Parts: sequence; C-alpha cells; structure tokens
Amino acid sequence: MHDLIARLVRPEIQEIRAYHVPEAAGLIKLDAMENPYPWPEELQEEWLELLRCAEINRYPHPQSPAVQAALRAAMGIPADMSLVLGNGSDELIQMLAMTVGGPGHKVMSLDPGFVMYRMIATFTGMGYVGVPLRPPAFDLDLPAVLDALEQEQPVLTYIAYPNNPTGNLFPAHEVVQIIEAAPGLVILDEAYAPFTDSSFLSRLGDWPNLLVMRTVSKMGLAGLRLGYLTGPPEWIEQIDKVRLPYNINALTQASATLALRHPALFQAQTTAIRTERACLFTALTALDGVQPYPSEANFILLRLTQGGADRVFAGLKERGVLVKNLHGAHPLLAECLRVTVGRPEDDDAFLAALARLL
Ligand SMILES: Cc1ncc(COP(=O)(O)O)c(C=O)c1O
Repeated sequence: MHDLIARLVRPEIQEIRAYHVPEAAGLIKLDAMENPYPWPEELQEEWLELLRCAEINRYPHPQSPAVQAALRAAMGIPADMSLVLGNGSDELIQMLAMTVGGPGHKVMSLDPGFVMYRMIATFTGMGYVGVPLRPPAFDLDLPAVLDALEQEQPVLTYIAYPNNPTGNLFPAHEVVQIIEAAPGLVILDEAYAPFTDSSFLSRLGDWPNLLVMRTVSKMGLAGLRLGYLTGPPEWIEQIDKVRLPYNINALTQASATLALRHPALFQAQTTAIRTERACLFTALTALDGVQPYPSEANFILLRLTQGGADRVFAGLKERGVLVKNLHGAHPLLAECLRVTVGRPEDDDAFLAALARLL
C-alpha cells in the first residue's frame, strides 16, 4: 500500500501535515477563538422548536435565501453587493482558489497569518507567497508587499483584518495601497469584525478587485460552519459557479436565520468579550516575563520573554487550560502563545495557572 500511496498521492500532499485540532474534553478551551457564552433559555427553546420542524429528508435550499436576507439585515451588507455563502470561510478560500487558480498561479498573504491561505493554495496546486511582517510589532512591510505584488503577480491576495494570530489591524491607508497595486483579487478577511470598529465593507465597489470575507464563527456560531463573501455581483456570480450545490445544510440554514434575527444578543456578548479583552491585556502586562501584543480580535498573542513556551503550554494543559502554542510555527512567533478571550472566570483560571508557571 505504501508504494501505491507514494506513486498516487501528489508529492505536495504527502509532505504536509494534516490540520491538527487538539482534544479539548474537560479543559477550559481558550485555543480556537470561540465565543464562550451560550444562548438564553428562551432562544434555545425557540431554536429547538425550529429544528423539530426542519425537513431533513429534503435537500436544503441551494442558495440559502433566508440566511442571505438575515445576513444582509444583521451585517449591513451594501444593497448593491452580492453574497455567496460557504461552509465556513475556509470553504470560501477554497472556492476562490478554484475560481482563479491553476498551475503557476499564486496566492499571497502576510506571515505569520492564517494558515488556511497557504494550505488551500497547496491543496489546489497553487504557489504561496508569504511576505513577512516586521518585528517587533508585526507591522505591515509595505515596500516588501508592493515589491512582491509586482514580482509574483498573485491572482489572490489575502489580508486578515485584524490579523490572526497577531491580533493587530494594519493601517487602512496601507491596505488601500495594496488593493490599488494588486494585479489580482484582494480579499479582506474580516473574520474578527465583531471585535473591531474598522471594516472595508462600506468601501466595496470602490475598487474592481476588492472582496470582503466574513464568518459567523467568532461572533458565537462556530458550530454552524457559515462564512460569507461579499462584493460586486459580477465577481460573486463567477465564484458561485464552483460552489457545491447544497453546501449550507438545512440545520445551519434554519439555525443561522433564527440567530441572526437576534443581533442584540450577539452584540452584547461580543461587547462583553471586548471589555474582558482589555482586562486580560492589563493583567498580562502586569506579569513579569510576559509581553502581550495589542489586539483588535477576540484573542491575545503573548510572548514569554524568558522563553519556555513549550513548557508553559504543557503546564497550562496539565492545570486544565488549553491555549494555542505558536512556538515553532514561524520564526517571528518564537516563544509565543495565543489565548482566546474567555469568560472572566476562564481568564482568571488561565492567569493564575500562567503566573504559577512563570
Ligand atoms: C483570519 C481567519 N479567517 C478565517 C477563519 C476561518 O473561519 P471559519 O470558521 O468561518 O472557517 C479564521 C479562523 O480561525 C481566521 O482566523
């Protein structure tokens, strides 16, 4: 069998390691940028009633019109822009690659950044160019980006706004220069939109090559797997052609439509997370040997200035707290951990365990 695999599986697939999701049962889960708050009981009841009526013997609606309408109303999508939905924004990244990719075509982004841009480029046979951010604060290296755009001619350029895993938001005027210089599509990935006041949504249509991608995952619906890509109708029409029929399942369509009718609930939860983010940042700053980086997202990147990230990560896990260990993921992330902002009691448990391990 090994011979067969060696002969048949594309070499670039043999080389990569599968995306690893650690087991989190029984742990305080601060590794995946989830919203820690459940729904109030009345909404849970309404939801269960809706699911009871869902026709799961039927295929779902292929275009999810109710979800589209609910997203438009809740998220302020400009009326003249179209929408395409994905099974998480991960699927939209794959659809974009299938739409404009091909042998020799390149995807460009900033490193350290969201790993799926690189992974999906590899899955779809495209090249990946990662332009390094500038230490010490993970700033955009604009001259290097402009140079790479000219040299590499990427068909897709992703900018996570704010960036994962660094949490910072690049200056809007620099992003504009990238959009204007890019020879291909620029996707502003606003996965963390609920936790910042900045967005390019209202600027869609100002450039022919700008699309905005978002997700409902971080606002509190990660389990539904629902991402959305918005931009000029001519672009969305092309991208929609590579979407698998029925990619948004019936339970997700029903659940998202209901949830999005309650924007105030999610607004209150994300506001609480933003307040807690400030408390967590202050507490981390007070710890000797910890350098937290300012964040506009629902997580904080921190560096252990005396080293020991692997030991501290393992120690936190032993004490029941799961964070993300980024040591080894990129040279700029040496001795770095990323912690999702949780409920105050989760963050207190994390801080107490961290303080003991330092
Ligand atoms: C920048 C960024 N984009 C996209 C995603 C994926 O989101 P989704 O859950 O919609 O696939 C993530 C998840 O961590 C992310 O950090």
